[in-house]
Amino acid sequence: MKKSYQSLEVNLTNNMRKVIHRKLSTNFLRLGLVILLAFTSALSAQEGDSAKGKALFNANCAACHKLDKKMTGPALRNVEARLSDEQGLDRDWLYAWIRNSAGVIKSGDSYANKIYNEYGGAAMTAFPQLSDDDLNNLLAYTAEEKKEPAAVPGGAVVAQNTGSSNGISNQIILGALAILFILLAAGLYVVNKTLRRFALAQNIEIGEDSKRTPLWKAFVQNQFLMIVVAILFLLSSAYFVFGYLSQIGVDQGYEPVQPIHYSHKIHAGDNGIDCKYCHSSARVSKHSGIPSLNVCMNCHKSIYEVSPETATKEYSKEFYDGEIQKLYKAAGWDDAEQKYTGESSPVKWVRIHNLPDFAYFNHSQHVTVAGVECQTCHGPVEEMEVMYQHAPLTMGWCINCHRETNIDVKDNAYYTKIHEQLSKKYGVENLTAAQMGGLECGKCHY
Ligand code: HEC
Ligand code: HEC
Ligand code: HEC
Ligand code: HEC
Ligand code: HEC
Ligand code: HEC
Repeated sequence: MKKSYQSLEVNLTNNMRKVIHRKLSTNFLRLGLVILLAFTSALSAQEGDSAKGKALFNANCAACHKLDKKMTGPALRNVEARLSDEQGLDRDWLYAWIRNSAGVIKSGDSYANKIYNEYGGAAMTAFPQLSDDDLNNLLAYTAEEKKEPAAVPGGAVVAQNTGSSNGISNQIILGALAILFILLAAGLYVVNKTLRRFALAQNIEIGEDSKRTPLWKAFVQNQFLMIVVAILFLLSSAYFVFGYLSQIGVDQGYEPVQPIHYSHKIHAGDNGIDCKYCHSSARVSKHSGIPSLNVCMNCHKSIYEVSPETATKEYSKEFYDGEIQKLYKAAGWDDAEQKYTGESSPVKWVRIHNLPDFAYFNHSQHVTVAGVECQTCHGPVEEMEVMYQHAPLTMGWCINCHRETNIDVKDNAYYTKIHEQLSKKYGVENLTAAQMGGLECGKCHY
């Protein structure tokens, strides 16, 4: 009995093995087929070089199309698959459309007319010069999987505002002061105790009175402690008084948190945008002025995110992109619909450089007439992630420069005559701004 059971078992398992084997091999076959199919279909969908396609896309289409976002024209990711699934349109239709969309629309093609009307009759450029290969490459590029944004190296630390560094240092100082006070109290207690033990050891009578000496009395009687406390008090009040004075007086280094984190380093530095593109009035008027949001939107209608390379350890891509969203909100720009909503709110930039009312300063005089570079007075702006006041803007600072700087009289008819007279008067070759009258009180004070 036992044996037959065993042989039955063996038989069973053998049979099962066979069945499983057969099943597996057919499954393998099927799997192989599926993979092969997938492979060939992938091949047929991706014939074309997506790297070349990307270059073509950036050169010809990027002005109006993005892959994943509606712009002047529709988002083009997987456009071929979308059109064939939803509209039954094939690649030939795409060839014809891209080479001459107006022609397809005129031919009465229903989808062409539909999308044309959907986009308010905006005309797409014709690209008759693109070969079949070019178009295959382009379509291969649009069929690429969307890449997940690369992680920011060093972990994405989102700096919400840089001004907090100031707050933190204040907090550290306050914390240190608190710890000092606690140490002081503890020290006092220990001193009190040791003195008492000494007294006991020396058999000095401690009267009931002195035993009950209140803490503050012991404190007052201890000269060393009094001195330490006095010094601490003087130091901390000096710190606050100095901080207060430097706030009302010289503002050198003043670096307020702006409502939108606008980086001069990224704009004027990395992207080389000319100062005068935004501060256009510096050349012609007393004030240099902050650009209106229209100026920003000239570029930012299409720049809705920063490239991953722009992100740093301190500021993540998400942070920068969020700041651009703030700009959209302020300008009342609906990025998804690509139009203004009409609900705008002006950005209240915090003014950094500010002379007192009784002093007169004129930008055009310095920038246009004297040809002084912005950076001479405002420092390395193109490296500033956050704008700050570089120069002290004191009277001494103005006067020093007027004493040292020669006036550029070349090509300036107004100066040639005065220059002749004055250089004779002072007996020098080149006149300084001071000798031109740059030290007269009335020139700078109303
Ligand atoms: C001047 C702007 C402009 C340029 C440049 C442009 N397009 Fe278009 N494109 C449009 C507009 C607008 C539409 C929507 C239909 C219309 O209004 O004509 C469109 C529609 C399309 C469509 C149909 C998409 C859909 O979802 O139905 C495709 C495909 C297309 N464009 C491909 C391209 C390719 C490829 C290039 C570059 C070789 C390109 N476009 C360059 C503006 C442009
Ligand atoms: C794309 C526009 C843009 C460009 C280009 C630009 N700025 Fe600015 N600038 C701004 C904005 C916006 C502010 C206000 C926000 C701030 O202070 O950061 C500003 C502020 C300033 C301030 C401080 C103003 C104040 O409140 O006292 C100075 C100084 C300045 N810019 C100088 C420059 C110089 C120098 C360059 C060229 C190297 C330059 N900017 C390029 C937009 C621009
Ligand atoms: C001439 C084109 C141009 C103008 C004008 C312009 N930007 Fe930009 N902006 C850019 C470019 C380019 C980037 C960086 C994109 C990248 O790094 O990928 C950028 C990035 C930004 C960012 C993210 C980085 C940062 O600085 O925090 C903000 C926010 C921003 N701009 C705000 C503004 C504001 C506000 C104005 C108007 C005062 C303005 N931009 C005007 C081209 C412009
Ligand atoms: C000779 C020094 C000097 C030069 C050169 C100079 N600035 Fe200024 N800038 C100042 C002073 C001083 C102020 C403060 C003016 C005030 O409060 O009336 C100022 C203020 C500003 C402001 C704040 C807004 C305003 O108009 O008061 C901006 C923006 C600015 N400068 C940008 C520029 C740009 C851009 C250039 C170059 C094209 C430039 N500056 C060249 C000294 C200079
Ligand atoms: C980087 C050097 C520099 C600095 C800093 C500077 N200036 Fe000047 N300034 C000049 C030069 C150079 C001229 C001569 C321009 C000319 O050709 O008329 C001048 C001319 C002037 C004039 C006209 C003088 C005249 O004879 O008509 C006034 C007013 C003036 N500056 C005010 C100021 C004030 C106020 C400050 C400080 C807030 C200042 N300047 C800072 C270089 C400077
Ligand atoms: C080149 C421009 C310039 C000339 C010339 C000039 N000042 Fe000033 N003065 C200033 C500026 C800028 C301030 C503001 C400094 C500040 O805010 O710290 C100032 C401030 C002052 C102050 C206020 C106190 C202080 O230092 O803040 C007095 C007083 C003063 N000037 C008197 C004079 C007299 C008197 C003369 C003529 C001998 C004169 N100034 C010539 C630019 C000038």
